[in-house]
Amino acid sequence: MEIRNLTKVSDFTREECENIIDYSIKMKADKFNSKYTSKLSHKTLLMIFAKPSLRTRVSFETGMTQLGGHGIFYSIKDSPLGIKETIQDTAKCASRYVDLIAARVFKRKDIQDLAANSDVPVINMLDDFAHPCQILCDFQTIKEKKGNFDNLKLSFFGDSYNNVTYDLMRMCAIFGMNMDIACPNDPRYSPEKEVLEEIAEISKKTRSVIRVVHDAMEAAKGADILYADSWMSYGIPKEEEDERVKLFMPFQVNAKVMANAKSDAIFMNCLPAKRGYEETAEIIDGPQSIVFDQAENRLHVQKAIILFLLGIMD
Ligand code: CP
Ligand code: NVA
Repeated sequence: MEIRNLTKVSDFTREECENIIDYSIKMKADKFNSKYTSKLSHKTLLMIFAKPSLRTRVSFETGMTQLGGHGIFYSIKDSPLGIKETIQDTAKCASRYVDLIAARVFKRKDIQDLAANSDVPVINMLDDFAHPCQILCDFQTIKEKKGNFDNLKLSFFGDSYNNVTYDLMRMCAIFGMNMDIACPNDPRYSPEKEVLEEIAEISKKTRSVIRVVHDAMEAAKGADILYADSWMSYGIPKEEEDERVKLFMPFQVNAKVMANAKSDAIFMNCLPAKRGYEETAEIIDGPQSIVFDQAENRLHVQKAIILFLLGIMD
C-alpha cells in the first residue's frame, strides 16, 4: 500500500477531506466509541514536539487511547531534529517501532524530510507552513454549524504569514469557498508567494475567490465565518510583541467588525487565544463564538485522520 502523509491539507482531495470529516462526525455521535474501541489495538503513534501544545497533544493522545492504541509524547525541545543524528536516521528508526509518526516542528523542511524518509505515515502537527489537523477540524465544525460548505465566505484577521492562515487558504480553495485575508500591508505579515500560487492553481478549478485585503471592515462584510489566530505564534520572540500589537490592532475582531459580517456569522479561533489582542473577550466569550466546539473536534477528526492514513477508515 502506498504510504500517505498529511503535511498540509492539500495532500488530500476534497473527497478525502469530506470522507474524513463525515467519519469523524459519525464517531463523535457514538458517544462511548463502542464500535471503535479496538480499531487501533496494538498500534502506536509517536508524537514529536519541538514546541508547546495543549490541544494537539492531549487530543492525539486521548484519541489513541479511545481507539485502543497508544500515543508516545516525545519532546525534542532541547534536542532539535537533525542535530545529533540526521532526520533520515530518526525517521528510519522510529518507523521500525511505531505505526505513525506525528511532529510539531519549526521548519517545513523537517516535516518534508521526515515524510520522505519514514516507512510509516507522517502527520504534520504544525510547522511554519501548515496546520492540517486543525483545519480539517475547523471544516468539520463549519459543516456542523452551517450544514454544508456552499456559498460561504470565511475571513481571516491578523498575522497572515502564518501556518493556520495558509491551510485555511488551501482548504477554502479546495472547497470552492471565498476567503478574505485581512492583514497589514507588509510582506512580514502577509501570505508567502508560494502559497498564493498554490491556491491560485487550485482556485482555477473550484472558482474560489481568495483576496488579501488590508481593511478589517471590508473583510468582515458578508462573512459567514470570522477567524482569528494568535498574534504571537509559538517561537516569536517577546521583543516583537509591542510592534506586532500595534500593527495588528486594526485587525482585531471586535463588536464593530462582527457587526459588519452576516447576522448569523460565527467566530472561530484555533486557540490559544489572548483576549484583548486578536479578539475582544466580548467576541470570544459571546454567543457567536464556537471556539470550544471547534477545540473538541480536534479529538474526533484526528482519530479519523489516523484511521484514514492507516487505510482502516471503514
Ligand atoms: N490549536 C492548537 O494546535 O493548539 P495547541 O497549540 O494547544 O496544540
Ligand atoms: N499560528 C499559531 C497556531 C497555534 C495553534 C502558532 O504557530 O503558534
